Amino acid sequence: MLPPVPVVIGVFAGVAALVNWSFNWNKEVCDKKWINFNEEGLKKDIQTKLFGQHVAAQVILKAVTGFIKSKNPKKPLVLSLHGSTGTGKNFVSQLIAENIYKNKMRSNFVHLFTATAHFPHKAHIDTYKIQLPEWIRGNVSICPRSLFIFDEMDKMHPELIDSIKPYLDFYDNLNGVSYRQAIFIFLSNAGSTMINEVVMKFWRDGREREKIQLKDLETELSQSVFNYKTSGFWHTSLIDKKLVDFFVPLLPLDYKHVIQCGLTEMAREGRVPDKNVVKKMADDLIFFPKEERVFSDQGCKHIANKLYFYI
Ligand SMILES: Nc1ncnc2c1ncn2[C@@H]1O[C@H](COP(=O)(O)OP(=O)(O)OP(=O)(O)O)[C@@H](O)[C@H]1O
Ligand SMILES: *[C@@H]1O[C@H](CO)[C@@H](O)[C@H](O)[C@H]1NC(C)=O
Ligand SMILES: [Mg+2]
Repeated sequence: MLPPVPVVIGVFAGVAALVNWSFNWNKEVCDKKWINFNEEGLKKDIQTKLFGQHVAAQVILKAVTGFIKSKNPKKPLVLSLHGSTGTGKNFVSQLIAENIYKNKMRSNFVHLFTATAHFPHKAHIDTYKIQLPEWIRGNVSICPRSLFIFDEMDKMHPELIDSIKPYLDFYDNLNGVSYRQAIFIFLSNAGSTMINEVVMKFWRDGREREKIQLKDLETELSQSVFNYKTSGFWHTSLIDKKLVDFFVPLLPLDYKHVIQCGLTEMAREGRVPDKNVVKKMADDLIFFPKEERVFSDQGCKHIANKLYFYI
């Protein structure tokens, strides 16, 4: 015998409601469930996973924690990370995202723009100049606590950098949207020659790497970025107007950091970390100065791929 019609309808409605509920339950929205800063988590990650970057570690931890905990920030947080290849600029940005957004880098509120991938053609600059501010405005109006990471900032067209300047500033709001909860992180190699020189000088003078302080690098860093002719900063007033809150130097990694990266990588792949294997790989890498082989030319980049040849 068939069940009466009202029962069938009732069951259907119940199932539909349940499906709808579970769908929405999993849908990322701009609230505490999905965006919840884990201060201890960030601290632990930066202290244990990021190698050889005591200056950046300290600055980033202070800047991000202070900003997120502040009830009334006067402007969005703007960090500019500088360092040569493979020193951890993308990596540390990832650690920041992972400790704010439940969905980590996949979060709809985290936006990674890479100059050469997203804005490759000079001829299209006029389109990009309209598009990018529109994206920032659109996304911040959906979620004030949005994170924007700009990779290869030194390859961004100066006019494009100019187009985002208003969003980094001290405005209360722009057309009804407030940007004061947003975080902007710029990544570039600009200034890395200067950073490497300072670190090398410390080493030559026989001084400990850990004694290097932000003040040994910061002023010169903002100067050298400003004077770096090929960098997008050159024509803009990002620095002039003091829109960047912190210049964060990433130091060149040395031999022992490369070993640490190698061991971590092996563990990550489910292998037993083997120092001999990692050492064999490190011996084939390029280090500078040429004679003494102290600093890794490519930092920890490509290590994951290279390790295969030595296992
Ligand atoms: N300081 C570090 N501590 C731990 N791991 C690191 C560090 N630097 C780099 N790595 C490892 O090397 C990989 C490549 O580093 P990353 O992509 O962050 O370099 P980058 O500074 O962005 O370089 P590039 O200028 O070439 O973009 C990371 O995914 C990470 O696994
Ligand atoms: C948010 O940013 C993305 C790029 O990361 C863009 O594709 C999208 O259109 C933006 N959303 C809005 C509402 O502007
Ligand atoms: Mg990078």
